[in-house]
Amino acid sequence: MRGSDSKRDLMAIDDVSEELSELIAWAIAFKHAGDINYEFKPLDGMSIGSIYEKPSTRTRVSFEVGVSRLGGHPLTLLSNDIQLGKSESIADTAAVLSRYLDGITYRCFKHGDAEELARHATVPVINALSDLHHPCQAAADLMTIAEHGESVSGHIAWVGDGNNVFHDLLLAGVALGHDVSYATPAGFEPDESVMDRARRISATTGAIISGSNDPVKAVSGAGVVYTDIFVSMGEEHMEGKFNAFDGFQVNEELVSNANPDYLFMHCLPAHRGEEVTDAVIDSPNSVVFEQAENRMWAQMSLLTYLCNETAWHAFRELE
Ligand code: CP
Ligand code: NVA
Repeated sequence: MRGSDSKRDLMAIDDVSEELSELIAWAIAFKHAGDINYEFKPLDGMSIGSIYEKPSTRTRVSFEVGVSRLGGHPLTLLSNDIQLGKSESIADTAAVLSRYLDGITYRCFKHGDAEELARHATVPVINALSDLHHPCQAAADLMTIAEHGESVSGHIAWVGDGNNVFHDLLLAGVALGHDVSYATPAGFEPDESVMDRARRISATTGAIISGSNDPVKAVSGAGVVYTDIFVSMGEEHMEGKFNAFDGFQVNEELVSNANPDYLFMHCLPAHRGEEVTDAVIDSPNSVVFEQAENRMWAQMSLLTYLCNETAWHAFRELE
């Protein structure tokens, strides 16, 4: 509704590479602001609509609560209940929703659909997970790593599918100067165009990216060990995909190769006993519920930045 030609969208985390460390600092400030959070209402009078084509627990609840905390009105639009994908195009949906809303979040199957919605909307659009990217997850993940500060020594290791969560973890990690080492089964490597972007960013920050099909190699000396489900939402039809991940489970034997104080990370939901064992996800090294909480704080920072940048700067003065 208050959109303009200069509106900013968040399709992938490298859309905000340059501001990322400040966005994370502000997310951490929100988290510790206490009573200031009750005064700071940058989304006062604004409505943020969230479209879901796939299920969600964390993204949905953290956006609804985060928007409310910022003084805005959250609307959740489940794809079964709206015309999108049935009798209305993405372009028309974007044009109509822009007449009511001040921002849109969109969880979709095809990344191109998020880009199309953003192209036709006159208000900021945030990708709330597509088949290619999950920027809100990466913002929360790098916030979690930042909170652990000096205790994280060693690179970020990814074990599993070269998927949407990995793409943004990689882009965000190298933007903030973390080395990233990944291991995927052959045929499940990350998207080459995302890798090109990550390599370009790493050339400016000095971060080192290395990839292989060997989980032990990826995890050796790691400060962070991250995994995700082997078969993502929308891939259930990919028969045999699961079997390709034999040997890629994050278990006690594998993490014994990481630094002793490594952080175990997972975007959740986890399929316990498949990509990770209970012993690892329930260990003292695991920060998976911190990550889940940080989704809300990171998205509050992103929403304020994209929907009311002036207020975002004012928050620093309140601290
Ligand atoms: N990590 C994450 O995006 O979780 P949900 O699918 O529950 O939103
Ligand atoms: N890679 C997973 C992440 C879920 C939060 C998926 O896309 O289903």
